[in-house]
Amino acid sequence: MDTLPTMMFSSEQEEKYYLDCMGYFFIFMAVCTFFTLLFENVPYGRYASGKYGFPINVKFAWFVQELPAFMVPLYLVLWTPSAKTSQLPNALLIAMYFCHYVQRSLVYPFLIRGGKPTPVVSFVLAIVFCIVNGYMQIRYLSHYAEYPEGWVTHPCFIIGCALWLVGWLVNLHSDHILRNLRKPGETGYKIPRGGLFEYVSGANFLGEITEWAGFALAGHSVHSTSFSIFTLVVLASRAVAHHRWYLNKFEDYPESRKALIPFVF
Ligand SMILES: NC(=O)c1ccc[n+]([C@@H]2O[C@H](COP(=O)([O-])OP(=O)(O)OC[C@H]3O[C@@H](n4cnc5c(N)ncnc54)[C@H](OP(=O)(O)O)[C@@H]3O)[C@@H](O)[C@H]2O)c1
Repeated sequence: MDTLPTMMFSSEQEEKYYLDCMGYFFIFMAVCTFFTLLFENVPYGRYASGKYGFPINVKFAWFVQELPAFMVPLYLVLWTPSAKTSQLPNALLIAMYFCHYVQRSLVYPFLIRGGKPTPVVSFVLAIVFCIVNGYMQIRYLSHYAEYPEGWVTHPCFIIGCALWLVGWLVNLHSDHILRNLRKPGETGYKIPRGGLFEYVSGANFLGEITEWAGFALAGHSVHSTSFSIFTLVVLASRAVAHHRWYLNKFEDYPESRKALIPFVF
Protein backbone atom coordinates (compact mmCIF):
# COMPACT_ATOMS: atom_id res chain seq x y z
CA MET A 1 0.00 0.00 0.00
CA ASP A 2 1.31 3.47 -0.89
CA THR A 3 1.88 5.74 2.06
CA LEU A 4 1.94 9.54 1.98
CA PRO A 5 5.76 9.85 2.00
CA THR A 6 6.14 7.31 -0.85
CA MET A 7 3.53 9.24 -2.88
CA MET A 8 5.29 12.55 -2.24
CA PHE A 9 8.90 11.55 -2.96
CA SER A 10 10.37 9.45 -5.76
CA SER A 11 13.12 7.94 -3.61
CA GLU A 12 14.45 7.81 -0.06
CA GLN A 13 17.40 9.97 -1.12
CA GLU A 14 15.00 12.63 -2.33
CA GLU A 15 12.98 12.57 0.91
CA LYS A 16 16.14 12.73 3.02
CA TYR A 17 17.33 15.71 0.95
CA TYR A 18 14.05 17.55 1.59
CA LEU A 19 14.13 16.68 5.30
CA ASP A 20 17.60 18.22 5.58
CA CYS A 21 16.44 21.30 3.64
CA MET A 22 13.54 21.63 6.07
CA GLY A 23 15.94 21.59 9.01
CA TYR A 24 18.04 24.40 7.48
CA PHE A 25 14.88 26.30 6.52
CA PHE A 26 13.69 26.08 10.16
CA ILE A 27 16.98 27.66 11.26
CA PHE A 28 16.52 30.43 8.68
CA MET A 29 12.93 30.96 9.91
CA ALA A 30 14.16 31.06 13.51
CA VAL A 31 16.55 33.90 12.57
CA CYS A 32 13.71 35.80 10.82
CA THR A 33 11.45 35.16 13.84
CA PHE A 34 14.15 36.47 16.18
CA PHE A 35 14.22 39.83 14.37
CA THR A 36 10.42 40.01 14.12
CA LEU A 37 10.08 39.38 17.84
CA LEU A 38 12.29 42.38 18.59
CA PHE A 39 9.32 44.50 17.48
CA GLU A 40 6.24 42.39 18.30
CA ASN A 41 5.26 39.78 20.92
CA VAL A 42 3.92 36.42 19.74
CA PRO A 43 0.21 37.34 19.60
CA TYR A 44 -1.58 34.97 21.94
CA GLY A 45 -2.32 34.76 25.67
CA ARG A 46 -1.84 38.18 27.34
CA TYR A 47 -0.64 39.68 24.02
CA ALA A 48 -3.63 38.46 21.95
CA SER A 49 -4.99 41.20 19.71
CA GLY A 50 -7.88 41.67 17.27
CA LYS A 51 -5.25 42.66 14.69
CA TYR A 52 -4.49 38.93 14.21
CA GLY A 53 -8.01 37.80 13.35
CA PHE A 54 -11.04 36.55 15.18
CA PRO A 55 -10.61 34.90 18.60
CA ILE A 56 -10.85 31.13 19.08
CA ASN A 57 -11.69 29.44 22.38
CA VAL A 58 -8.34 28.74 24.07
CA LYS A 59 -8.91 25.05 24.93
CA PHE A 60 -10.20 24.28 21.43
CA ALA A 61 -7.28 26.20 19.87
CA TRP A 62 -4.58 24.43 21.91
CA PHE A 63 -6.14 21.00 21.30
CA VAL A 64 -6.58 21.43 17.53
CA GLN A 65 -3.30 23.25 16.90
CA GLU A 66 -1.16 20.74 18.86
CA LEU A 67 -2.97 17.58 17.70
CA PRO A 68 -1.03 17.27 14.38
CA ALA A 69 2.22 17.23 16.39
CA PHE A 70 0.95 13.95 17.82
CA MET A 71 -1.14 12.51 14.95
CA VAL A 72 1.36 13.01 12.09
CA PRO A 73 4.16 11.17 13.99
CA LEU A 74 1.69 8.48 15.09
CA TYR A 75 0.74 7.90 11.44
CA LEU A 76 4.42 7.74 10.45
CA VAL A 77 5.34 5.27 13.16
CA LEU A 78 2.31 2.99 12.75
CA TRP A 79 1.73 3.08 8.98
CA THR A 80 5.23 3.56 7.58
CA PRO A 81 7.26 1.13 9.70
CA SER A 82 11.01 0.81 9.28
CA ALA A 83 13.76 -1.17 10.99
CA LYS A 84 15.30 2.14 12.18
CA THR A 85 12.38 2.73 14.55
CA SER A 86 13.42 -0.22 16.71
CA GLN A 87 17.07 0.78 17.05
CA LEU A 88 17.65 1.89 20.63
CA PRO A 89 18.75 5.55 20.16
CA ASN A 90 16.01 6.14 17.56
CA ALA A 91 13.36 4.46 19.73
CA LEU A 92 14.35 6.46 22.82
CA LEU A 93 14.32 9.79 20.94
CA ILE A 94 10.93 8.97 19.40
CA ALA A 95 9.64 8.06 22.89
CA MET A 96 10.88 11.40 24.28
CA TYR A 97 9.07 13.27 21.52
CA PHE A 98 5.82 11.35 22.13
CA CYS A 99 6.05 11.78 25.92
CA HIS A 100 6.01 15.54 25.41
CA TYR A 101 3.30 15.67 22.76
CA VAL A 102 0.88 13.22 24.40
CA GLN A 103 0.82 15.64 27.33
CA ARG A 104 0.84 18.82 25.24
CA SER A 105 -1.88 17.83 22.78
CA LEU A 106 -4.13 15.48 24.74
CA VAL A 107 -3.83 16.70 28.34
CA TYR A 108 -2.58 20.33 28.56
CA PRO A 109 -5.43 21.94 26.55
CA PHE A 110 -8.08 20.53 28.89
CA LEU A 111 -6.32 21.76 32.05
CA ILE A 112 -6.10 25.42 30.97
CA ARG A 113 -7.88 27.75 33.40
CA GLY A 114 -9.30 31.05 32.19
CA GLY A 115 -6.85 31.43 29.28
CA LYS A 116 -7.33 34.22 26.71
CA PRO A 117 -8.82 33.26 23.32
CA THR A 118 -6.25 32.63 20.58
CA PRO A 119 -6.31 34.86 17.44
CA VAL A 120 -6.86 32.85 14.26
CA VAL A 121 -3.49 33.82 12.73
CA SER A 122 -1.55 32.42 15.71
CA PHE A 123 -3.76 29.32 15.62
CA VAL A 124 -3.09 28.64 11.91
CA LEU A 125 0.67 29.27 12.24
CA ALA A 126 0.81 26.85 15.18
CA ILE A 127 -0.98 24.15 13.16
CA VAL A 128 1.45 24.54 10.25
CA PHE A 129 4.42 24.41 12.63
CA CYS A 130 3.12 21.26 14.36
CA ILE A 131 2.51 19.42 11.05
CA VAL A 132 5.88 20.28 9.53
CA ASN A 133 7.91 19.79 12.71
CA GLY A 134 6.11 16.55 13.63
CA TYR A 135 6.84 15.15 10.17
CA MET A 136 10.46 16.36 10.17
CA GLN A 137 11.38 15.04 13.63
CA ILE A 138 9.72 11.64 13.46
CA ARG A 139 10.23 10.82 9.79
CA TYR A 140 13.95 11.50 10.23
CA LEU A 141 14.21 9.44 13.43
CA SER A 142 12.06 6.56 12.21
CA HIS A 143 13.61 6.22 8.73
CA TYR A 144 16.93 7.97 8.30
CA ALA A 145 18.79 8.66 11.54
CA GLU A 146 21.85 6.45 11.89
CA TYR A 147 23.76 6.54 15.15
CA PRO A 148 27.17 5.02 15.77
CA GLU A 149 27.39 1.77 17.72
CA GLY A 150 27.11 2.50 21.45
CA TRP A 151 25.59 5.99 20.93
CA VAL A 152 23.27 5.47 23.93
CA THR A 153 26.31 5.39 26.23
CA HIS A 154 27.95 8.44 24.62
CA PRO A 155 28.09 11.48 26.98
CA CYS A 156 26.12 13.58 24.43
CA PHE A 157 23.26 11.10 24.49
CA ILE A 158 23.27 10.63 28.27
CA ILE A 159 23.54 14.35 29.09
CA GLY A 160 20.98 15.16 26.38
CA CYS A 161 18.45 12.69 27.79
CA ALA A 162 19.04 13.99 31.34
CA LEU A 163 18.50 17.59 30.18
CA TRP A 164 15.38 16.55 28.30
CA LEU A 165 13.94 14.88 31.42
CA VAL A 166 14.79 17.73 33.80
CA GLY A 167 13.42 20.28 31.30
CA TRP A 168 10.22 18.33 30.80
CA LEU A 169 9.61 18.04 34.55
CA VAL A 170 10.34 21.76 35.10
CA ASN A 171 7.95 22.63 32.26
CA LEU A 172 5.17 20.42 33.66
CA HIS A 173 5.65 21.68 37.20
CA SER A 174 5.77 25.34 36.13
CA ASP A 175 2.66 25.03 33.94
CA HIS A 176 0.95 23.42 36.96
CA ILE A 177 1.90 26.41 39.16
CA LEU A 178 0.56 28.90 36.60
CA ARG A 179 -2.70 27.01 36.19
CA ASN A 180 -3.33 26.98 39.91
CA LEU A 181 -2.91 30.74 40.27
CA ARG A 182 -6.51 31.06 39.10
CA LYS A 183 -9.57 29.75 40.86
CA PRO A 184 -12.20 28.29 38.50
CA GLY A 185 -13.86 31.20 36.64
CA GLU A 186 -10.99 33.68 37.22
CA THR A 187 -9.13 35.17 34.25
CA GLY A 188 -6.79 37.73 35.86
CA TYR A 189 -3.06 37.51 36.55
CA LYS A 190 -1.17 36.93 39.85
CA ILE A 191 2.50 36.72 40.75
CA PRO A 192 3.67 33.11 40.26
CA ARG A 193 5.36 31.63 43.35
CA GLY A 194 7.29 28.43 43.99
CA GLY A 195 9.52 26.14 41.93
CA LEU A 196 11.78 27.90 39.44
CA PHE A 197 9.43 30.90 39.44
CA GLU A 198 11.32 31.99 42.57
CA TYR A 199 14.26 32.63 40.22
CA VAL A 200 12.79 33.48 36.81
CA SER A 201 9.54 34.84 35.34
CA GLY A 202 9.66 32.33 32.47
CA ALA A 203 10.12 29.09 34.43
CA ASN A 204 7.82 27.10 32.11
CA PHE A 205 9.74 28.44 29.10
CA LEU A 206 13.13 27.67 30.67
CA GLY A 207 11.90 24.08 31.18
CA GLU A 208 10.79 23.72 27.57
CA ILE A 209 13.96 25.31 26.16
CA THR A 210 16.09 22.91 28.27
CA GLU A 211 13.97 19.98 27.18
CA TRP A 212 14.46 20.51 23.43
CA ALA A 213 18.11 21.50 23.86
CA GLY A 214 18.62 18.08 25.51
CA PHE A 215 16.70 16.41 22.67
CA ALA A 216 18.96 18.18 20.15
CA LEU A 217 22.12 17.12 21.99
CA ALA A 218 20.99 13.49 22.16
CA GLY A 219 19.60 13.52 18.60
CA HIS A 220 22.65 15.19 17.01
CA SER A 221 20.95 16.26 13.79
CA VAL A 222 20.04 19.44 11.95
CA HIS A 223 16.38 18.45 12.44
CA SER A 224 16.42 18.29 16.26
CA THR A 225 18.79 21.28 16.45
CA SER A 226 16.53 23.46 14.32
CA PHE A 227 13.52 22.64 16.55
CA SER A 228 15.58 23.51 19.60
CA ILE A 229 16.71 26.84 18.11
CA PHE A 230 13.15 27.73 17.08
CA THR A 231 11.90 26.97 20.59
CA LEU A 232 14.71 29.05 22.11
CA VAL A 233 13.92 32.07 19.93
CA VAL A 234 10.16 32.03 20.56
CA LEU A 235 10.21 31.22 24.26
CA ALA A 236 13.18 33.40 25.26
CA SER A 237 11.37 36.36 23.68
CA ARG A 238 8.19 35.42 25.54
CA ALA A 239 10.06 35.10 28.85
CA VAL A 240 11.59 38.58 28.44
CA ALA A 241 8.22 40.08 27.45
CA HIS A 242 6.43 38.43 30.43
CA HIS A 243 9.16 39.65 32.79
CA ARG A 244 8.77 43.28 31.62
CA TRP A 245 4.99 42.91 31.77
CA TYR A 246 5.12 41.67 35.41
CA LEU A 247 7.46 44.50 36.43
CA ASN A 248 4.99 47.02 34.98
CA LYS A 249 1.91 45.39 36.46
CA PHE A 250 3.00 44.46 40.00
CA GLU A 251 4.73 47.00 42.26
CA ASP A 252 5.67 44.20 44.67
CA TYR A 253 7.16 41.93 41.97
CA PRO A 254 10.22 40.16 43.47
CA GLU A 255 13.28 42.28 42.64
CA SER A 256 15.78 39.43 42.48
CA ARG A 257 13.74 37.47 39.94
CA LYS A 258 15.27 37.37 36.43
CA ALA A 259 13.55 36.79 33.06
CA LEU A 260 14.90 33.41 31.94
CA ILE A 261 18.28 32.42 33.41
CA PRO A 262 18.48 32.31 37.23
CA PHE A 263 20.81 35.01 38.71
CA VAL A 264 21.94 36.10 35.22
CA PHE A 265 19.28 37.35 32.82
N1 LIG B 1 8.06 24.67 21.79
C1 LIG B 1 7.55 25.86 21.49
O1 LIG B 1 7.99 26.48 20.52
C2 LIG B 1 6.43 26.46 22.33
C3 LIG B 1 5.81 27.64 21.88
C4 LIG B 1 4.80 28.19 22.68
C5 LIG B 1 4.44 27.59 23.88
N2 LIG B 1 5.04 26.45 24.28
C6 LIG B 1 4.69 25.84 25.58
O2 LIG B 1 3.30 25.87 25.78
C7 LIG B 1 2.98 26.15 27.15
C8 LIG B 1 2.08 27.39 27.25
O3 LIG B 1 2.76 28.47 26.66
P1 LIG B 1 2.23 29.97 26.85
O4 LIG B 1 3.07 30.82 25.99
O5 LIG B 1 0.74 30.00 26.71
O6 LIG B 1 2.57 30.22 28.40
P2 LIG B 1 2.08 31.41 29.36
O7 LIG B 1 1.96 32.69 28.60
O8 LIG B 1 2.97 31.36 30.55
O9 LIG B 1 0.58 30.97 29.76
C9 LIG B 1 0.31 29.67 30.21
C10 LIG B 1 -1.08 29.63 30.85
O10 LIG B 1 -1.02 30.16 32.19
C11 LIG B 1 -1.82 31.36 32.30
N3 LIG B 1 -0.98 32.30 33.04
C12 LIG B 1 0.27 32.70 32.72
N4 LIG B 1 0.75 33.55 33.63
C13 LIG B 1 -0.20 33.70 34.55
C14 LIG B 1 -0.31 34.49 35.76
N5 LIG B 1 0.71 35.25 36.16
N6 LIG B 1 -1.45 34.44 36.48
C15 LIG B 1 -2.47 33.64 36.06
N7 LIG B 1 -2.44 32.87 34.95
C16 LIG B 1 -1.32 32.90 34.18
C17 LIG B 1 -2.09 31.81 30.88
O11 LIG B 1 -3.33 32.52 30.78
P3 LIG B 1 -3.61 33.66 29.65
O12 LIG B 1 -3.90 32.91 28.38
O13 LIG B 1 -4.79 34.38 30.19
O14 LIG B 1 -2.37 34.51 29.55
C18 LIG B 1 -2.13 30.48 30.14
O15 LIG B 1 -3.37 29.85 30.29
C19 LIG B 1 4.32 26.36 27.88
O16 LIG B 1 4.65 25.15 28.51
C20 LIG B 1 5.29 26.64 26.76
O17 LIG B 1 6.58 26.20 27.08
C21 LIG B 1 6.03 25.88 23.51
